[in-house]
Amino acid sequence: MAQEPFTVRWGILATGGIATTFAKDLLTNPATRSVNDVRHTIVAAASSSSESRAVEFLKDVGAPTSAKAYGSYHALAQDPNIDVVYVATPHSHHFQNAMLCLTAGKNVLCEKAFTVNAAQARLLVEKAKEKGVFLMEAVWTRYFPLSVKIRELVTSGKIGTVVKVNADLCINGSTDDAEKLSFSDKHRAVNMDLAGGALLDLGIYTLTWVFQILYLCQKAPADGSGKEKPKILAAIDKYHTGADALTSIICHWPKQRTMGIATSSWRVATTPDGEGSPAAGPACRIQGTKGEIQVFGPLYRPTMYRVIMFGGERGVVEEVECPIPKDPKIPGVKGEEELGWGHGMFWEADEVARCLRDGKKQSDLLTWEESIVIMDAMDEVRKQGDLVYPQEIESDVYDEKSPLNGSS
Ligand SMILES: NC(=O)c1ccc[n+]([C@@H]2O[C@H](COP(=O)([O-])OP(=O)(O)OC[C@H]3O[C@@H](n4cnc5c(N)ncnc54)[C@H](OP(=O)(O)O)[C@@H]3O)[C@@H](O)[C@H]2O)c1
Repeated sequence: MAQEPFTVRWGILATGGIATTFAKDLLTNPATRSVNDVRHTIVAAASSSSESRAVEFLKDVGAPTSAKAYGSYHALAQDPNIDVVYVATPHSHHFQNAMLCLTAGKNVLCEKAFTVNAAQARLLVEKAKEKGVFLMEAVWTRYFPLSVKIRELVTSGKIGTVVKVNADLCINGSTDDAEKLSFSDKHRAVNMDLAGGALLDLGIYTLTWVFQILYLCQKAPADGSGKEKPKILAAIDKYHTGADALTSIICHWPKQRTMGIATSSWRVATTPDGEGSPAAGPACRIQGTKGEIQVFGPLYRPTMYRVIMFGGERGVVEEVECPIPKDPKIPGVKGEEELGWGHGMFWEADEVARCLRDGKKQSDLLTWEESIVIMDAMDEVRKQGDLVYPQEIESDVYDEKSPLNGSS
């Protein structure tokens, strides 16, 4: 007899844009993506502003009517019916909010960028170890079947030895006024109080592409010394709020003789003719000694790649579309979802479910160690670009009563 799927009961911390997208993905039928070993349900959501906001959120995403609405993050963290909390607040809040949940013994999936700095990330990992709970940074792109396939191509040696990865993620917020972006200065994209900026928002994805090829796929030396970590060379151009609006990073692995170049900005667009359009060319090029893999953007949600070979096999040998499956029957949601819903965040949720089912505390595809190495790299980029956030959000002192945790 077929086994019942393992069901994960989610609590959603925050009710903004990505919390809504993620929650709707959780509620899609896993069969629409050919998954039958795990499934998800939402048992609670919390808003820092009011309980009624949480009620509205649960209704909008089509959560079961039994799901509880909380007007405080503290109350959510104490709910015994939650298996894992998804933290979906701005970057500035991740450390305090994730710590609140870990301290309460909850498993946590925390939005990217994991934290504001590496010191905070190290403390979250220590707390997860102490409490014996699961913790993962929500870099959803790593769990796309497209990413899995590309990593397999790289490790199989299909394109020879990878020498260089170029990754670009830019979203155009320019206006006619060269000094002004289209976001308000309070928007989390450029607001220093919310740890805004292109690096933590977009750069994390370009670094994801660089790292999932040149770090995750790197063979660790037999002497147990661990994978080589990159040296960083970076430049930052700031917006008038102080947040970075144009950031370029070179990651150099001298022993591997590889480099990753990661660029991100709010001033120009990687795909000027619209998301997913191939006309602008690839957003990521993974260049090996025998060929290259091109990934078409946006790099957070890519849906097509191409393999181009040199020598005997010269030319495009494979062009693969990887559409995001849509569930035509997701309940209770309105608008564009009439055509079906599916954003691609369900694959990372499935990874969380399998880790919980198998008693794992971290994902093999984005380990605690790798998240910290990436945070170390971003710290170095900010140091070279002289980008420091306000002390309250750079702080690595956990305070349950911090205003970032809302009222209790
Ligand atoms: N994976 C992805 O593709 C993706 C895409 C976009 C964003 N993100 C990440 O997700 C996180 C949230 O982004 P978002 O676009 O969802 O932001 P958003 O729409 O502004 O929502 C953030 C939510 O956080 C809560 N919050 C608590 N204190 C806040 C404060 N002082 N200012 C603003 N919001 C506050 C609010 O919900 P309540 O008060 O109701 O709790 C708010 O709705 C960020 O870390 C971002 O980098 C990821």
